[in-house]
Amino acid sequence: MELADVRDDLDRELISEREIVDKIAELCRAIERDYEGRRPLLVGVLKGAVMVMADLARELKLHVDMDWMAVSSYGKSTQSSGVVRILKDLDSDLAGRDVLIVEDIIDSGLTLSWLLGNLQSRGAASVKVCALLRKPDAAKVDVPVEYVGFDIPNEFVVGYGLDYAERYRNLRGIGVLAPHVYS
Ligand code: XMP
Ligand code: MG
Repeated sequence: MELADVRDDLDRELISEREIVDKIAELCRAIERDYEGRRPLLVGVLKGAVMVMADLARELKLHVDMDWMAVSSYGKSTQSSGVVRILKDLDSDLAGRDVLIVEDIIDSGLTLSWLLGNLQSRGAASVKVCALLRKPDAAKVDVPVEYVGFDIPNEFVVGYGLDYAERYRNLRGIGVLAPHVYS
């Protein structure tokens, strides 16, 4: 689905499909350099990271494994609670693995900060993070992120995996949700 199909629900387009494709390629070149000769385990955080994971994994010229975790933080709200629950755990053993967490967006950083600690405690050789989007003005905790696509303003965004109440995930680009949709 295109952003034009939901124009009335959006304030504006923030990032186009083309810009996402180019940025994913750029991130992949950096990841390939850093992981040369290794086989990282990409850990996608459901459900938002599905699109990033699919595009990133296919663009990478590296052997990778892929696994998924589902954690809850938001429900239908647009505010982070900081309370994280595992809804679906990994199938893989992390001992000795180079883990690369693949995230759609870092907002307060609370989810990711918790996730980093959790995965590090499982004996991984390394745990790094790749996030397509980051909202610097929303940060409540400082989390080290090796690969960031775009720093964006502190507004609620949808598309390319990101939802509001499970809608808009299948948009090809990313847009700012209009306040009338959630108020
Ligand atoms: P925190 O605040 O813990 O949040 O860094 C991370 C998770 O919250 C979701 N999130 C969003 N989802 N538009 C969305 O559709 C947004 O603007 C947004 N901000 C945060 C997302 O699931 C992310 O993994
Ligand atoms: Mg969500």
